[in-house]
This record gives sequence, structure tokens and C-alpha cells, in this order.
Amino acid sequence: MTIPRLWLGTRKMTDPLSTPDLVAAALDMGYRHIDTAHIYSNHHLIKQGIQARWGNRQDLFLASKLWMNMYQDPLTNLQKICDELGTTLDLVYLHRPSTPADHDTVLSQAQTLISSWLTKSIGISNFPPREYIRLHTHYPWLITAHQYEAHALLDQSDNLIWCTTNAIQPVAYSPFAHGHLFAKQWTTHIDAWCKKNWPTHAQVYLGYLLHLGYAVLPKASSVERLRENLVSHDILLDDEILVILDRFPKTYRYCNPPFAQWE
Ligand SMILES: NC(=O)c1ccc[n+]([C@@H]2O[C@H](COP(=O)([O-])OP(=O)(O)OC[C@H]3O[C@@H](n4cnc5c(N)ncnc54)[C@H](OP(=O)(O)O)[C@@H]3O)[C@@H](O)[C@H]2O)c1
Repeated sequence: MTIPRLWLGTRKMTDPLSTPDLVAAALDMGYRHIDTAHIYSNHHLIKQGIQARWGNRQDLFLASKLWMNMYQDPLTNLQKICDELGTTLDLVYLHRPSTPADHDTVLSQAQTLISSWLTKSIGISNFPPREYIRLHTHYPWLITAHQYEAHALLDQSDNLIWCTTNAIQPVAYSPFAHGHLFAKQWTTHIDAWCKKNWPTHAQVYLGYLLHLGYAVLPKASSVERLRENLVSHDILLDDEILVILDRFPKTYRYCNPPFAQWE
């Protein structure tokens, strides 16, 4: 299955007044790919946005994530997610690593989940190398996507190489480093190129990740920014700007909760 490359990120989109409208506006302007998660507590709002436009799925690509406490009974919990969204999924992720036994519980039931039509595919998110290599070895070809923090300020080259070598779609979350990439400290390095070539800072940062092979998940709170981010699809970056972005320090990890497992 081909995973679309530019998605709407929805973490922190929980305002009951603005979220359905933003989702509907995103669909109007051409977003066809939405990323959510049980833990974002916004399935019902996304459902309203989708239904305001079409009333059904049509060509939408929809992904959500099982939280760690849902791994023991993936079928029931996936059904719950689909009920909340009012539709089935194209992709369900294991949101964060738990124990190998928990991961095996989900992946050993993968065929049941897919045959139930609740999801078309399974992905992982935030997994450390030792565990994703083990899973890929035990369940070859089952994992279709790996979602992890990736942006111009973080070196994720090992993860990226592993994904592309194993035909797994790398998906970059927090592509703007939670917005930190818009600080003058960083934009000052790309201002001249942007003025000469027209793209905005946001489009350059997303274009960089698309160029590397990532699918990207920008989140934005206004229709103008949603539109600006969507246009990144068509941005071509030349060697000059790629070298500038490659030279950004790659040591900033912003999504690092105490229970995270990195290697
Ligand atoms: N799997 C995981 O564990 C995980 C973890 C984190 C995130 N994610 C996914 O990744 C998505 C994005 O990550 P994120 O929300 O952490 O951060 P992000 O997309 O890196 O950054 C969002 C920030 O950038 C700002 N922004 C967006 N477009 C902009 C533009 N064109 N110009 C200037 N500023 C702009 C937003 O401001 P406004 O909102 O004010 O417009 C917001 O402050 C999430 O929504 C979620 O779907 C997944």
C-alpha cells in the first residue's frame, strides 16, 4: 500500500468549536490524509469535520494510534477507535513501545485486525532499533510505516536508512520541531534563499523532509497555514538550500517523555 506523503497532524486539536471546521477546511483545500491518535482525545471532532464535508470516507487516508494500555486487546480497542471516528482506518500504529510481549500480542493478531476491515495496515511509532528489527524479523512485511520525530534539527539518519532499506514508509512527526524551527536563530540561515526562490520557511522545512523520503505531518491552527503547508508538495529544493539544512545542528529532540525508550 502506498502511504500518502503530506498529512494533517492533529495533536492538540481539541477545541470543539474550531477543530471540526479546520478538518473540513483542510479537506476542502485538498488534504486527504489525517493523522490522529486515541491519546489526542479528538476522534469525535475529526469525525464531525469529515462528516461535515462528505458524510463518508471517499478517498480519505486516515490513521490513528493504539495507546500502550490498548495492546492487550487490540481488536476491541480498534473497534472503539473506529466507532469514535465513525469510519475504519487505513493505518493503525502502535503509538509507543511497551514490552515485546505486548507488541507480539498486537502483531500476532494483525491478520485478524486486517480481515475485520477495521484497518488496512499496521505501523509503529517511536520504536527503538532493537525492537523494530526484532518485529520486522518475526513479522516480515507486516509493518508498513514507522512514525517518529524528524526535522531539520534532529539526526534520524539510522532510522531513515533502516526504513527505506526495508520498504517501510518513514513518517516525520513534529516536522517543525514543535514550532522551534521558526525561531530567528534558525530562519536567519534560510531567509536569503527563501527571498530569492519564493517558498516560505514552513515550505522549506517540509520540502526538506519530503526530499529525504519522509511522509510529513504538519499541524497548524489556521486555514492560511494549512494552505501554506499543503503547497510544500510542489516545492523543489536545490543543492544550495539542502546543504544549508544539512548543516543545521541535529541534536534537538523535543518529544522526549520520561517513559520514552531511545537507543
Ligand atoms: N507519534 C507521536 O508520538 C507523535 C508525537 C508528536 C506529534 N505527532 C504528530 O505530528 C503532528 C505534528 O507535530 P507537532 O504538532 O508536535 O508539531 P509541528 O507540526 O512540528 O509544529 C506545530 C507548530 O508549528 C506551527 N506552524 C504550523 N504551520 C506553520 C506555518 N506555516 N508557519 C508558522 N508556524 C506554523 C503551529 O502553530 P499553530 O498551531 O499556532 O498554527 C505549531 O505551533 C501532530 O499533530 C501529530 O499528528 C505524533
